[in-house]
Amino acid sequence: MAQNDDNLLKKITGHAKEYGFIFPSSEIYDGLAAAYDYGQNGVELKNNIKEYWWKAMVQMNENIVGIDAAIFMHPTTWKASGHVDAFNDPLIDNKDSKKRYRADVLIEEVVAKYEAKIAKEVEKAKKRFGDDFDEAQFLATNPNVKRSQDKIDEIENRLGTSLEKGDLADIKALIEELGIADPVSGSKNWTDVRQFNLMFSTELGSLAEGANKIYLRPETAQGIFVNYLNVQKTGRMKIPFGIAQIGKAFRNEIIARQFIFRMREFEQMEMQFFVKPGEEMTWYENWKAKRIAWHKALGLGEENYRFHDHINLAHYANAATDVQFNFPMGFKELEGIHSRTDFDLKAHEEHSGKKLQFFDPEENKSYVPYVIETSIGLDRMFLAIMSASYTEETLEDGSERTVMKIPAALAPYKVAVLPLVKKDGLPEKAREILSDLRFDFNCQYDEKDAIGKRYRRQDAIGTPFCVTVDYDTMEDNTVTIRDRDDLSQIRISIDELKSKLKESCALEGLLKKL
Ligand code: GAP
Repeated sequence: MAQNDDNLLKKITGHAKEYGFIFPSSEIYDGLAAAYDYGQNGVELKNNIKEYWWKAMVQMNENIVGIDAAIFMHPTTWKASGHVDAFNDPLIDNKDSKKRYRADVLIEEVVAKYEAKIAKEVEKAKKRFGDDFDEAQFLATNPNVKRSQDKIDEIENRLGTSLEKGDLADIKALIEELGIADPVSGSKNWTDVRQFNLMFSTELGSLAEGANKIYLRPETAQGIFVNYLNVQKTGRMKIPFGIAQIGKAFRNEIIARQFIFRMREFEQMEMQFFVKPGEEMTWYENWKAKRIAWHKALGLGEENYRFHDHINLAHYANAATDVQFNFPMGFKELEGIHSRTDFDLKAHEEHSGKKLQFFDPEENKSYVPYVIETSIGLDRMFLAIMSASYTEETLEDGSERTVMKIPAALAPYKVAVLPLVKKDGLPEKAREILSDLRFDFNCQYDEKDAIGKRYRRQDAIGTPFCVTVDYDTMEDNTVTIRDRDDLSQIRISIDELKSKLKESCALEGLLKKL
């Protein structure tokens, strides 16, 4: 992967727009901050990511089923879940620049600087010691690394405690002690830290009818919790079992930037796994292992993932970790894995007056199950794939290309069928091949411009294979098939095309690795 810089994110944003992956929302009116529209290629990639997730989570697991709950929910849902009272971000304004920031993010950026210092020391030492380098020992003993690590621990502990206690004055004090300046103006003239609720609200019904304040859901999870009993009973599910869902969520983020990393309207793919109380930590570890395997099967580079355990637990969790990905902005949260205890189901029992329990025939008693949750942002997953796939290359003949090395199974199109020239029956033959392949694969047809230019267009949208129909095709029913990544071209019979494409592009290949 990729350089760790703003420039790469800018290039990806530009490429995504130029090649129909992502457009700023309502762009003809100059766009709307932190809202984006997926274009003709973006929607294909997004759908393929969803399918990979849904198949891995639902179809491959006998004890997991899916639902699709409404975005609008009874307002008491959000009182019970704790979101009305506790779904806040601490914000701070700079009095000179009038810019608003998340106070905890400003502090975490200082931590990231110390982490970068450690990474630099490790790189230097690796070069110095070569094959003899023992990273674990170096991290434990090098005085520079230890100094940075002590500082990280000190800052994180202080921030964690202050957030937990809601001690906003101490968060401001920490910002001042660390000498944090506004990244835009350099000013250190800060307001006090305030809490800001992230839920969007609107009214249900007209005012005359007595409108009711309702919220746009900030997570899909609550749609699963309130349906726990419906699914358990109608599906005759036995503990342990899971309910999965893909859907939109909305958060009024204070700082929404970095392209589709932090949006105000985004999509989540969540799964709640209901387990026997006391067994939650075993299942927590189990889901951590399963989810990291799902990520790594994509081949985006093992070194681009790491776990980051939470020190500051959300109001519902007794353990939580992030799967972080090495985005162009550095390692950031891609997915959350949380042990949510029985917090949600118990709270819904209390607020609704309905029992949400499971009768365990082995134990001969009823209990409120504990929950392990896996929650991944679809848009962040999209950005992770775009970041790891974006490649600029100089070819042997000195020409340059930009190629999206998207995992073949997720690529918007699997194959482009290209007649070498626009005459002598070649386009008709190409269309004949296309009409057969499109039952199994999303295909493109292109006959405009020189063949090299057409290859570049397919490289730019990540099509793994180009099939070229030439004069030999008319004689012997063979075509050339060009590989996007290594640029090799082989000649194969048209009859073999489907099996060749299936072997390289089917989701089955990814799912079998899990
Ligand atoms: N139900 C648990 C939950 O919502 P979370 O850590 O707040 O947990 C889960 O969110 C995932 O949703 C994150 O790991 C991230 O990928 C995605 N996500 C959260 N806020 C987002 C935002 N503003 N824009 C894009 N994705 C977001």
